[in-house]
Amino acid sequence: MNPSVVIEPRASGTPATGCPASGTPASSAPASVPASRAPASSTPATSTPTRASNIEARRMFLRMARPHADPNPYPLYARLREIGPVVPVVFPGVAPRYLVTTFAACTALLRDENIGPLAEEHFHETNPTWNEQALTSTLFGSMAFHSGAEHRMDRAMLAKHFSPRRTGKRREDMVAVATSLLDQLAVLGADAQPVDIERELAVPYSALITGRLMGIPDDQALRLGWLARQASATLELAPSPGQRQQAVQAGDQVVKEMTALAAERRAQPREDLITDLISQCGDDEDRLVSNLVLLFGAGFDSPTSIVGMGLRLFLDNPGQAQLLREDPTLADTATEEILRCEPAVQIMFRAARRDVTLAGVTIPAGSIVLALVAGACHDPALVDDPDRFDIRRRPSGGLSFGGGAHYCLGAHLARLSATVLFPMLLQRFPHMQLAEEPTYRSPGVALRGFERMPVTLTPTNPH
Ligand code: HEM
Repeated sequence: MNPSVVIEPRASGTPATGCPASGTPASSAPASVPASRAPASSTPATSTPTRASNIEARRMFLRMARPHADPNPYPLYARLREIGPVVPVVFPGVAPRYLVTTFAACTALLRDENIGPLAEEHFHETNPTWNEQALTSTLFGSMAFHSGAEHRMDRAMLAKHFSPRRTGKRREDMVAVATSLLDQLAVLGADAQPVDIERELAVPYSALITGRLMGIPDDQALRLGWLARQASATLELAPSPGQRQQAVQAGDQVVKEMTALAAERRAQPREDLITDLISQCGDDEDRLVSNLVLLFGAGFDSPTSIVGMGLRLFLDNPGQAQLLREDPTLADTATEEILRCEPAVQIMFRAARRDVTLAGVTIPAGSIVLALVAGACHDPALVDDPDRFDIRRRPSGGLSFGGGAHYCLGAHLARLSATVLFPMLLQRFPHMQLAEEPTYRSPGVALRGFERMPVTLTPTNPH
């Protein structure tokens, strides 16, 4: 889950974009991801928006602010990079939003101490009933929305559970979870029956790993996983009223279950993360529950998305899949490349605490700023030929895990779970193919991923 925010639809009813679908070749290298068609070095160092670019920026913002995912948002990000590193979006009578489009500007933004998480006034502006919604009001009390000393204290409380050494010890369990899910997949997909990767692999793999890390029983972790997936629409750029309502209900349930689980552990302590947090939070129930909800949501949502989107990259680029099958030691760089090519968190939301000048543009205090980190990961200033999926590429240091004070706490764990899964998955099912075009999650704009991804595991015509 992107522990970010809610920006109310400014653009409901906006027409579909008509963006081109991913242009991916059917065979080996040079492999590609959705092509942004960006000129190689077109990113200006500073921006001086013209009237024409303002109008275009507004149009592009409206294309993003809708309740359905764009199958290929990368050309739009590329065009915004061309307009400038910081693009103001101005609508009459509304405070401007600022889109930060390039790798350099996004990096500077995430590290700038004058820019932080959204504050209460932004929530009031964008989602007036946020305080009555269990998920948003609970998350607002978590470290994702804290700054300075308060934020450091929360991170320090959790940090020991996410050290590289401690994370490394989870490998064996990840292999066991993956093995058992792949065994079940093999049964379900016998005789070329289509199986939904999201349902049978991505959701359970991530829910079980996060649940076991925290000390949540497997059954409950699976249930919470499905609920968290629905609830995440609350954190989107522009959910529809129906999506928001469904998300609010699912979010209520997540908070309720997590509160009950915390109470259970208080009564009967165990050797687990929840019990450890209880002892660190003392009587501060709000701090405890908000960080538990954040942790499960964040630990579950993006890793789930990466399973489907990573697999899609391999299926579209069989030469890269073959490379990983033949040399599983490429799993580390393959994971980095998946994270760069298809960032699960595409957009991060921030607010300027004071007037800030970024890439030559002054952003007034109080403004909402959108870091388009997925566009930053496709910036030609970051890597050569950014739309090519190349698992042998040197890790780029992209922004898929964010940056600065709020850099993803679970990055080691997320990397490990992907490096364990992908070689096993590709080796076990070398003939896997898409059974039909996957369905993107909705809204799926800030948090990109699939809702359904039917594949066949065996050749449809083995004879
Ligand atoms: C592929 C997997 C993952 C991706 C792409 C990802 C991405 C991110 C991003 C972009 C942020 C920063 C959000 C912002 O600054 O607005 C973040 C924060 C966070 N992530 Fe992850 N994440 C992943 C997996 C995990 C896992 C496995 C956990 C824990 C089990 C986790 C826990 C957190 C937490 C607690 C934060 C908030 C940190 C803070 O506010 O200081 N994430 N993640």
